[in-house]
Amino acid sequence: MARKILVLPGDYIGPEIMAEAVKVLQEVDQRFKLDLALEYGLLGGAALDATGVPLPDETLKLAKAADAILLGAVGGPKWDAVERHLRPERGLLAIRSELQLFGNLRPAILYPQLADASSLKPEVVAGLDILIVRELTGGIYFGEPRGVRILENGEREGFNTYVYRESEIRRIAHLAFDLARKRDRRVCSVDKANVLEVTVLWREVMEEVAAEYPDVELSHMYVDNAAMQLLRAPKQFDVLVTGNMFGDILSDAAAMLTGSIGMLPSASLDQAGRGMYEPCHGTAPDIAGQGKANPLATILSVAMMLRYTLACPEAADAIEQAVSVVLDQGLRTPDIYTPGQQLVDTTRMGDAVLAALRGR
Ligand code: IPM
Ligand code: MG
Repeated sequence: MARKILVLPGDYIGPEIMAEAVKVLQEVDQRFKLDLALEYGLLGGAALDATGVPLPDETLKLAKAADAILLGAVGGPKWDAVERHLRPERGLLAIRSELQLFGNLRPAILYPQLADASSLKPEVVAGLDILIVRELTGGIYFGEPRGVRILENGEREGFNTYVYRESEIRRIAHLAFDLARKRDRRVCSVDKANVLEVTVLWREVMEEVAAEYPDVELSHMYVDNAAMQLLRAPKQFDVLVTGNMFGDILSDAAAMLTGSIGMLPSASLDQAGRGMYEPCHGTAPDIAGQGKANPLATILSVAMMLRYTLACPEAADAIEQAVSVVLDQGLRTPDIYTPGQQLVDTTRMGDAVLAALRGR
C-alpha cells in the first residue's frame, strides 16, 4: 500500500522551499521505489486565511492518517494582529501536540564547504556534528495556566507556566540516550536547576534514566553556560538534550554555527517513530517571493524523513550526498554566499540537487 506523505507548505517562503523539496522527494520516490502518495494541506497563516483557524480539522485528519508530514514554515507579520489563540504558530504547536511529536531532533552539522560562511572561526566549527534533542510538546510553551490578566490596580500581568511531568522527561531522555548510542555516546542535559524547580526534577530524571545506559556518559549544564559553550567550543557536545524553550533558543544558536539556519533540518517524532519534518528556520517574510530562500534545510528534512520514518537510509544518504556535491560545485543561495562562489536562486539550488541526485 502506498505510504502517505502530507505536505504542508505554510507561509511566506514556505511554498518556495517546499516546491524544491517535493521535487527531490518525488525523485527518490521513483528511484528507490518507495510508493509514496503525496497529499497537500493547509497550516498556519495560509490555513487561517482560507478557513479561519490555523489548524483546520481537515489538516489534522490528514496528518493523523499520514505516515509522515513535510512542513515548510508558518507565521509572519501578516497575522501579527490576530488574536493570540488564532496565531499561525498556534497551529504548529497544536499539530505537534495533537500528534504527540515530543521528540525534536535538530542536527547541527557543518558542511566543510561552508566553514567560511559561519560567523565563527573555521577551526572552532570545522567538523562540527552535534544533535540537539528538544522536548517539543511540553514545558512552558504548553503549560497552563497562561495568559494576560488585569490586576486589581489595573496593571496588566502576563503569565505562563513552566511544567514537566516525570513521564515527559523520561521519554525524551530515552530518545536522547538511544540516539547517543548511535553516535559518540555522550549526552549533555541542559537545564536551569540552580533556579527552576521544574528543571531540578528534569536533572533527577535524567540521572535515573542514565543508570539504564551505563555505556553513555551523562553531563549537565545550565542553559546560560550552554549558550556560551556553544559559541566558545561547540565541538565539545555530542547529543544535547533539553526542554522545549531552551531547545528552541539553543537550536537557533547552533544553526548559525553551521553558516546559516537555512541549512538546518529537523525531525519531530512520536513514540512510534512517525514524524513531522521541517526546516528549523522560519518563514523569512523579508525575502519571500524573491527566490532568495535556501531550500536545503527542507531538502535535508526530506532526508531525515527517509531515515527516521520511511526506513530508507540509502535514499537519505543519496540526498545528503547530493547536497554536498552542490556545495562542492560552489552554488550558494544568499544566506551562505561568500565571495568567489556562485550565487543562485531557490529554484536553481533545488534543480542542482536534483541533477546531482541523478548523477549529472
Ligand atoms: C521552531 C519555531 C517554533 C517554535 C515557532 C514558530 C512556534 O521557532 O520550530 O523552533 O518555537 O517551536
Ligand atoms: Mg525556533
